[in-house]
Amino acid sequence: MDSLEQLISLAQQDFRNVSDPVSLENAKAKYLGKTGLITAEMKMLGKMAPEERKARGAVINAAKSKIEAALNERRQELANEKLQAKLNAEAIDVTLPGRGRGKGGIHPVMRTWERIERIFGSIGFDVADGPEIETDWTNFTALNSPENHPARSMQDTFYIEGKDTQGKPLLLRTHTSPMQVRYARSHELPVKVIAPGRTYRVDSDATHSPMFHQVEGLWIDRDISFADLKGVYLNFVQAFFETDNLQVRFRPSYFPFTEPSAEIDIAFGSGPLKGKWLEVSGAGQVHPNVLKNMGIDSEQYIGFAFGSGLERLTMLRYGINDLRLFYEGDLRFLKQFN
Ligand code: PHE
Repeated sequence: MDSLEQLISLAQQDFRNVSDPVSLENAKAKYLGKTGLITAEMKMLGKMAPEERKARGAVINAAKSKIEAALNERRQELANEKLQAKLNAEAIDVTLPGRGRGKGGIHPVMRTWERIERIFGSIGFDVADGPEIETDWTNFTALNSPENHPARSMQDTFYIEGKDTQGKPLLLRTHTSPMQVRYARSHELPVKVIAPGRTYRVDSDATHSPMFHQVEGLWIDRDISFADLKGVYLNFVQAFFETDNLQVRFRPSYFPFTEPSAEIDIAFGSGPLKGKWLEVSGAGQVHPNVLKNMGIDSEQYIGFAFGSGLERLTMLRYGINDLRLFYEGDLRFLKQFN
């Protein structure tokens, strides 16, 4: 074989053997570089006679072209391999089903909150919202619990650094009852309202949480009585628990802001809690001192109020036995309600 033919096949072999572009360019230098083998052949042309030089030159150029063609072919191959490797690494399986967005759900206590708004809304009650940071006056004093009154100690709470206009520390409301005062002072009579919301007390065990929820109910008019309150509340719990087979009883109790006061108990006529009296709410006739603080004439108007715990109602509705489950954020628990 002619030495040039040999050079061509050596170059082709060398190019085939490299597996990356840098090695390929190094292999190219061996043949086509300044000190490369083809270049050396070219340099020899200078010493040849013109006739010979012409013939030999053409042969060398042909060899050079073949080597360049092999080089370009290998360059293209390596580029394709690189692209293919990149495509494989970044491959997207378009047949994979989408993950979708996780569907959110409504917290069971919020479900209760919304149910209560719907039920009372359907019988003409307004729904009001009020501040969780309260003044001492609205949370206690206006509700007939003057400073140093022993009833205050039943509702120890969290105090905020800021002070109100009377220089008293602000506090986290211990119940939704301050909304009775706020709402009645800012609305025309008669008043028919519920005020659901968050409340706070220094309390923490299986049935108490430092933050919990209540719904306040207030009804002020001229000719209403305990019987009306009882009728409304019975209608509410029957709608809430989706059964007519349910009784309500009022048991004498004490609250500073109602007189007389009662605890409302309910008893289911069937199911696992059948026949058991369960306390679900405080209630009572609005105390005349409270009506006075609302700017209402207690000779003309009479008021009834109740305050029920949303967690308690939720636990009874779904058969939950530990209140702390509501606040642990465990999806295994929460998903059961959605
Ligand atoms: N605010 C009372 C409590 O939190 C409940 C209540 C509300 C009682 C309205 C009577 C009237 O315990």
